[in-house]
Amino acid sequence: MRGGRIIQGLGVSLIAGCAALGVVLAQEVQKSSYSPVVITEPFEKTVARMKASKAEVMKRQMDLLEERYDLSNRPAPGVTMSRGKPVQEGVRVKLPPGMTWEKLASMSPDEIKEKGLWPKGFLPLPHPNHAEGGMVFPKFVIDAIKKQEERDLTRFDLDFDLPDHFLPEFPAPIYLTTRPDLGDVSRGQLVTINNYYELFNGILNPKQLEGLRLLVTPFPQQQFNQTEDRRSEKPSRGVACFDCHANGHTNAATHLVGDIRPQEFRHRIDTPSLRGVNVQRLFGSQRALKSVEDFTEFEQRAAYFDGDPVIATKKGVNILERGSQVHFMAEFQALLDFPPAPKLNIYGKLDPSKATPEELRGQEIFFGKAQCGVCHPAPYYTDNMMHNLRTERFYKPQMVNGRMAVADGPIKTFTLRGIKDSPPYLHDGRLLTLEDTVEFFNLVQGLRLTEQEKKDLVAFLRAL
Ligand code: HEC
Ligand code: HEC
Repeated sequence: MRGGRIIQGLGVSLIAGCAALGVVLAQEVQKSSYSPVVITEPFEKTVARMKASKAEVMKRQMDLLEERYDLSNRPAPGVTMSRGKPVQEGVRVKLPPGMTWEKLASMSPDEIKEKGLWPKGFLPLPHPNHAEGGMVFPKFVIDAIKKQEERDLTRFDLDFDLPDHFLPEFPAPIYLTTRPDLGDVSRGQLVTINNYYELFNGILNPKQLEGLRLLVTPFPQQQFNQTEDRRSEKPSRGVACFDCHANGHTNAATHLVGDIRPQEFRHRIDTPSLRGVNVQRLFGSQRALKSVEDFTEFEQRAAYFDGDPVIATKKGVNILERGSQVHFMAEFQALLDFPPAPKLNIYGKLDPSKATPEELRGQEIFFGKAQCGVCHPAPYYTDNMMHNLRTERFYKPQMVNGRMAVADGPIKTFTLRGIKDSPPYLHDGRLLTLEDTVEFFNLVQGLRLTEQEKKDLVAFLRAL
């Protein structure tokens, strides 16, 4: 960005950046809710310009991650996701110099805010290039789809940022509410348009099979389409729902939320798992749409989280028919079950004959002293509501790599069933481990948990 100018993907503002000084000045030259429809720069120039600044953009983001987190690969001994990928252990958010978690927990929100002591990793996480935004896929996802479909989801302007060991296992197992007897029906494969039929014919009914076909069919979308307003070098056939919700779960593909303007206020969003949507009542971290059908229909119409039906039309919008397509897709999504949790009984609580003393103590704290259960009640560990955690009590508004960190507002209470399978955590993926989430809530709720209580809580979360 040095000495350069970037016209944002959403045409919201023009940024003149001076990365050498670490200062980014944002000047609003033209206020608009719309993305530019007519691109005047020749495509080859856009590619050359953005490729030239890619290294600097990614360095800025990786520096931020290093500053915030301990990114080392440290698996928790003996703890794995459902198909065996190691779960990372330990608190990864770094403390301000001279601080301990105990000291921090003994301070009031005002004091933490005044002294600037809120750990940086607890601030909203920006997109790898927040001013530009758009969908970004981890490299292992890009490789797998290229191999199966010869479809390339590489962006020429940026890469995914978080290290693979903090991401969900891939491909994830698939459990069906209708056929629990089968266990994982993915057979270890990534479900795509090339193999869905062979994998599911004879297991699903024809309606569900057609729903699944649509979920794995790519359609032109924001950064992946045939126009000059794309971020793939070659014209792209587009993106499928399961490119992000891989195997009905998540591969941590990221994006910006569509509901907010201007660009710097938009939240980064981590793809949520679709496991257990059948028992949920609100969809989207902020929008609180009331059905899976609504979510399915709107994602494609409004340019995938950019909330912009104008630009979606230019790129080749796919209008799904509610009665026969949306409904079928939603019906398949409703079959996606949580992974088995063998230690839980029919009430979703620990079976004392199977759980460890540590896990049982963790359950006590979860429903007792820590009051997690108020918002995350058993059996599904969500109250199907939104809550405002008011994290802005702890920090002053500030720009972080093009992201304006202010109040998050009310956010969906995500379910905690199968939670060890879906790092990173919170709607923007700002927390890398379950230990991080416990330190976060310890401060947000003012709990003053002991070291042992924190350990017990993590043990319980891993059993869910
Ligand atoms: C680019 C990646 C990506 C693609 C492609 C994608 N999604 Fe999503 N999906 C997300 C993200 C990110 C969210 C979270 C949105 C939010 O926080 O508002 C989400 C949320 C959802 C939700 C709500 C989940 C919840 O827990 O609230 C549903 C349902 C859903 N998507 C279904 C679909 C369907 C159906 C398609 C295809 C039409 C699709 N998604 C395509 C990334 C994606
Ligand atoms: C006042 C309601 C409330 C309480 C109390 C609460 N949570 Fe949450 N929890 C939420 C909300 C809302 C989110 C989503 C926040 C976000 O994404 O920014 C969340 C998210 C989480 C997540 C991440 C989920 C995901 O899919 O990324 C974990 C883990 C979690 N909570 C654990 C806990 C634990 C452990 C406690 C108790 C120490 C607790 N929560 C107490 C409301 C609550």
